[in-house]
Amino acid sequence: MKIRWRKWLLGMMALGVVGVATLAIVVSRNSPCGSPPPLAEGETMQAIIYRCYGPADVLKLETIAKPEPAEDQVRVRVYAAAVNPLDKHYMRGTPYVLRLSAGIGAPKVHSLGTDFAGVVDAVGAKVTRFKVGDRVFGAADGAFGEYIVRRAEGAIAAMPEGLDFEQAAAMPVAAVTALQALRDKARVKPGQTVLINGASGGVGTFAVQIAKALGAEVTGVCSTRNVELVRSLGADHVIDYTTTNFAEGEVRYDVIIDMVGNHSLGALSEVMPENGVLVMVGSVEKSDWTEPFGRILDLSIASMLHSQRFEMLLATMDGPDLEALAAFASQGELRAAIDTRYSLPEVPDAIRHLETGRARGKIVIAIAE
Ligand SMILES: NC(=O)c1ccc[n+]([C@@H]2O[C@H](COP(=O)([O-])OP(=O)(O)OC[C@H]3O[C@@H](n4cnc5c(N)ncnc54)[C@H](OP(=O)(O)O)[C@@H]3O)[C@@H](O)[C@H]2O)c1
Repeated sequence: MKIRWRKWLLGMMALGVVGVATLAIVVSRNSPCGSPPPLAEGETMQAIIYRCYGPADVLKLETIAKPEPAEDQVRVRVYAAAVNPLDKHYMRGTPYVLRLSAGIGAPKVHSLGTDFAGVVDAVGAKVTRFKVGDRVFGAADGAFGEYIVRRAEGAIAAMPEGLDFEQAAAMPVAAVTALQALRDKARVKPGQTVLINGASGGVGTFAVQIAKALGAEVTGVCSTRNVELVRSLGADHVIDYTTTNFAEGEVRYDVIIDMVGNHSLGALSEVMPENGVLVMVGSVEKSDWTEPFGRILDLSIASMLHSQRFEMLLATMDGPDLEALAAFASQGELRAAIDTRYSLPEVPDAIRHLETGRARGKIVIAIAE
């Protein structure tokens, strides 16, 4: 009887291993890049398209059909877009868990880009929030293209006065992420001390300014060449990580917003008071297989071992948060630090630039004059 059970157990384990290995092979397999389908008659536009996962070489400038808005959608003529690490993840299909929604073997949606700013050029029959000619910014699939369509009640808002298209396009993903990390996860209050690790990147440059606008005393961590940039954004203190390791210092921070994940959670716990909060926004990508589960596990263990709160952020894009950013910008409390401008055909170079990990603020794509 015992031997039978052991055989059954071994059989089930072997089946489990074969099942996991098969799933792994299926999920990580890259299908070849297909060719563009024939173009139907009608109006066309230029857009960056990818038909298979891989490095920036898979991105091609193609002529595709101009989209028509559904009854609850607006169509926007895109004047500027911006690049985010998110685009790189969709382009490469990594971490692999992302392929469960983005497409196994090849992407289901062939357009790329999220952040946009432009002018509404058509509205669906049921749309009352916007009209043709409105200047808007937000998040939508396919922002690396001349036109996008998106639901009018979603992540789109009127552009703040005094901001140009590139400034507005630079904000959505990175600044909403910074806002949700500081306001919703860390619940920053005036007078608290906030450390921003990765202060010179896309999210960090906005986080420094939003933390200041929320009344915090802000310390930004960056490398030597970015010290002046971070100071110019309003940081009260700047730590150059090439000479000083804040995680080994004496100073305690009520809140740490971490875009880099290059310190152990144990070390970060040492530089926070007992009621401190760490918000993990980004981290060094250890494995395409285990992310983001490894990070979630580490944060859960740290929460059990230490008195502080260890939170992970997964930002969600919505209209009210874009309006909150527009309000900060109108009051002169928020501006994008723009690193480099690329044109639409140069999107592959823009993504390669982002993938160096050395962007200073935002990389933007100028699409229309
Ligand atoms: N959880 C979410 O919902 C969410 C949303 C948006 C982004 N993210 C993640 O957040 C992370 C940051 O995004 P991002 O748009 O800010 O990326 P990014 O613009 O590409 O960040 C580049 C910046 O990181 C800095 N950096 C690199 N190593 C550093 C270190 N050891 N210490 C301090 N700074 C360092 C670089 O400065 P130097 O050149 O000076 O080193 C550079 O300015 C990414 O991992 C991204 O995937 C998460």
